[in-house]
Amino acid sequence: MCGHPDHGDHPFPQAGRERLILSSPIGWIGTGAPDPEPDVLDRLKDNAVMMMGDNPALPRMPQRPTLMDFFRCRFGDFTVRHLLGSAKRALDGGHSDTVVMACLLHDISNGCLVRPDHGYWSAQIVAPYVSEEVAWAIKYHQALRYLPDPEAGYDYPGNYDWFFGAEYRDQLPEYLRRDMAVARNHKWYMTSRTVTINDIYFFEDMTPVDPEIFTDIIARNFRQPEAGLGHDDSPSAHMWRTMIWPNNFL
Ligand SMILES: [Fe+2]
Ligand SMILES: [Fe+2]
Repeated sequence: MCGHPDHGDHPFPQAGRERLILSSPIGWIGTGAPDPEPDVLDRLKDNAVMMMGDNPALPRMPQRPTLMDFFRCRFGDFTVRHLLGSAKRALDGGHSDTVVMACLLHDISNGCLVRPDHGYWSAQIVAPYVSEEVAWAIKYHQALRYLPDPEAGYDYPGNYDWFFGAEYRDQLPEYLRRDMAVARNHKWYMTSRTVTINDIYFFEDMTPVDPEIFTDIIARNFRQPEAGLGHDDSPSAHMWRTMIWPNNFL
């Protein structure tokens, strides 16, 4: 489905059953949508079960998924173009592998996991597989997006005024203010700042970028686990598994 030779043709789990999906609370809480749990549990009879394992509605992941398999088979189109475009801009700007990797992964949690505090989530997702500096730059880019740095040629993003309202500039939560001060005084400040400088806006030119151009940089800077992402025993393996099986009931 996503062009990978290793999808396998093993049967889907829970064969012959109606497989029910209960969306995660973070996907609906506060939206006004009713709590889906009572209804779904009510349908849990006869032949129906709660979905566990591969969902045929999604491209099947290979047995040992790599970073690029998640780009190809899971992440939303916008995130894919945004991450590849930002990394390409950093590459064209002659930046280091560290900066290019941080750009390539900086919003990875938005791909198919979770949006709130995406810098913090994204850093934790990739931390076991990248250098400490790459993970640090990803974590702090979220706060640094709100902090102008005229000397570095970085302004408060105009689209943030559009997203959040211009008054939000003065309503930033304390943890973001704290973390922008931490980042501002850190030896790796410019790494994270450079991520924000190469962070393209959604309305900018997003010409599709061939992910293959990052193959060598990924090979040098991302420790692909032998067992495959999600199937190793790293501190963030469960996050990758959640992206492999986002519809698991538990
Ligand atoms: Fe971001
Ligand atoms: Fe971004």
